[in-house]
Amino acid sequence: MKNKLNKIARDTNKFLKNFIKKQKKSHLIVPMQYGLFSGGKKIRSKILSDIGSLFKVNYKNLIIVGAAVECIHSYSLIHDDLPCMDNDTIRRGKPSTHIKFGESTAVLAGNSLLTMAFEILSSKDFKITEKIKINLINKISETSGHLGIAGGQFLDLNFEHKRVSKKRILDMEIKKTGKLFSFCCVAPLILKNRNKTEIKKFENIGLDIGLLFQVADDLIDHKGKSSIAGKKTGKDKFKGKATLISLLGYENTIKYAEKLIIKINNKLKKYEPRSKNLSKTLEYILKREK
Ligand code: IPE
Ligand code: IPE
Ligand code: MG
Ligand code: MG
Ligand code: MG
Repeated sequence: MKNKLNKIARDTNKFLKNFIKKQKKSHLIVPMQYGLFSGGKKIRSKILSDIGSLFKVNYKNLIIVGAAVECIHSYSLIHDDLPCMDNDTIRRGKPSTHIKFGESTAVLAGNSLLTMAFEILSSKDFKITEKIKINLINKISETSGHLGIAGGQFLDLNFEHKRVSKKRILDMEIKKTGKLFSFCCVAPLILKNRNKTEIKKFENIGLDIGLLFQVADDLIDHKGKSSIAGKKTGKDKFKGKATLISLLGYENTIKYAEKLIIKINNKLKKYEPRSKNLSKTLEYILKREK
């Protein structure tokens, strides 16, 4: 698991470094690289690769799509740490981008990483049909806007210090984190021109995986060690974040996550034994400490 994750991280970083190298220089390149290459796990790319192997998708194409996803993910973290959002000074064991480069630079580097995702997917060097490209770009755009990351982040901040129903907490977590995972689960099917019903099925599996990931992140915040997590822990409670833990308690939230894994695995039955890798990734998502 760790080896595979490391290889995917290496290949994704290599692609991104080359992609940036081919572009003209600018003052934002350094803060963008800082946000991108400061040591993320690349778990979203691992999901892409796990699903890709179910449908025999070309590995190189998965890495390109993963690179676009990681740009959006890194952008979302840079902005998430800003003083107007979670106001966090440490990310991946290092000073957050705005601490290192200043707020305005962090905002602009984040914006530039978001748009770089679209540059990557629409690039001439990505050798897939125009129709598939447009489908990918359409889907990934949806995950980042008001129905995805941005909308979810709005709700996350809006819910602080409020009593919020389970339904609304789940909606917020699915938007801010689930949607991008959902894209990772459908992109391999889009690349292979699979039918709408199957795409819908994997879209829903992705939402559940993303929810599992965010719930596990909330568990790390609750019980994890800052030195291992690479970011300050215990901050959700302090900030009055509405999470399943604040509503159901720690133990019940673990049970909820375990049930979620069973639910996802049931949906993957049809793809056994090839879906074993994905099932292992799900275990990793819940058991991880960072
Ligand atoms: C953290 O994501 C933010 C959430 C969406 C919960 P990751 O835990 O994937 O962050 P990195 O990329 O590995 O640092
Ligand atoms: C972040 O959620 C979700 C994003 C889309 C960026 P968190 O605010 O819980 O992420 P961490 O704990 O700061 O990494
Ligand atoms: Mg946040
Ligand atoms: Mg945060
Ligand atoms: Mg968190």
